[in-house]
Amino acid sequence: MSSPQKTFPSHLIRLSKSCLGIEEKNAIARVLDVGYLGMGQEVMLFEKELEAFFHNSVACVNTGTSALQLALQSCGIGQQDEVLIPSITYVASFQATSATGAIPIACDIDLLTGCLDVMAARAKITPRTKAIMYVHYASGVGNRNAIFALAKEFSLRVIEDAAHSFGGCHEGRPVGEEGDIICFSFDGIKNITCGEGGAVVSSDQSVIEKVRDLRLLGVMKDTDKRYAGTRSWDFDVEEQGWRYHMSNINAAIGREQLKKIVMFGEKRRHIAHMYKELLKKLPIEFLDIDYNAVIPHIFPIIVNENKRDELRDFLMANNVETGIHYKPNHLLLKYKGNDCSHAEAFGRRVLSLPMHPDLCDDDVIHVCSLIQDRF
Ligand SMILES: Cc1ncc(COP(=O)(O)O)c(C=O)c1O
Repeated sequence: MSSPQKTFPSHLIRLSKSCLGIEEKNAIARVLDVGYLGMGQEVMLFEKELEAFFHNSVACVNTGTSALQLALQSCGIGQQDEVLIPSITYVASFQATSATGAIPIACDIDLLTGCLDVMAARAKITPRTKAIMYVHYASGVGNRNAIFALAKEFSLRVIEDAAHSFGGCHEGRPVGEEGDIICFSFDGIKNITCGEGGAVVSSDQSVIEKVRDLRLLGVMKDTDKRYAGTRSWDFDVEEQGWRYHMSNINAAIGREQLKKIVMFGEKRRHIAHMYKELLKKLPIEFLDIDYNAVIPHIFPIIVNENKRDELRDFLMANNVETGIHYKPNHLLLKYKGNDCSHAEAFGRRVLSLPMHPDLCDDDVIHVCSLIQDRF
């Protein structure tokens, strides 16, 4: 990892960034030297290491979005089935769902956590509802137990969009260790990155086996051959597949990042605790998230909606990037139609502050003193 550098006000303090070092460079060089860039040994080893990390079965894919899509397809969810999704999430959750032919149903959120509201989800259940896509917003798990109880009551699958929450814990157990199907993203700015990448995690072997075929254009049982450096020539295909496998280069980066997750986690938690301490006297709300248990991928604060854009412009003018996680998906042209008033209020008030392991204490103090200036 590059050592945290003191950044001065004239430098841009970035919202998020990859945190890479010589180890990742060497890992890429190792793959280039071997000369096998596709899906092979490195992916197999990364999957094994992730399995040891989660104590669960893993299939790696090329993005978090494709992990979600294949998770749905692997349990038979498709044309005209309905999937309940909180409106506050990255559009990836919605696009992954509509890519299967299923209909994403935008649901309202709990304002305290930014996660799916259980009552709102219950109200949207119809005979066509097949699954809940539960998003770990800002790494928090919200009222996850109640969501599982609801899913059980209506025999729904639960696909957890845990893109934000790699490395976190829920009730003392690593996110990904238990549940139904849990999907992760390893894109450039996540808690660990592969450059691009994703993973489907489940104890349901039929899901994992299916994802392993679907990621290789539906070619059945090709994975083991790829891991042995060969491929199938005489094969069969029984359903629509996709070219969504992970490459050895991406896996090699991910393997090095995985070794750093404890250090990344400590840094991200430290930054979250600093923000909470330094901003506690201001009229700002924080999400109800246990920053001792999770590894925060983003750090959203909730401010007065009349103030949000002005504060964002002021911070940018002072070289501090911020983000808006997210514009509600039910306001997008493609997914229009549902009323989610909490999500709309949240979308107008939320502002994400810089969060990545390369931030130093002075950066965080500087961001907080700028915010203080505006209140
Ligand atoms: C909540 C959420 N879901 C899914 C994704 C998709 O992951 P990827 O970018 O790896 O496709 C992201 C990525 O930002 C995300 O934030």
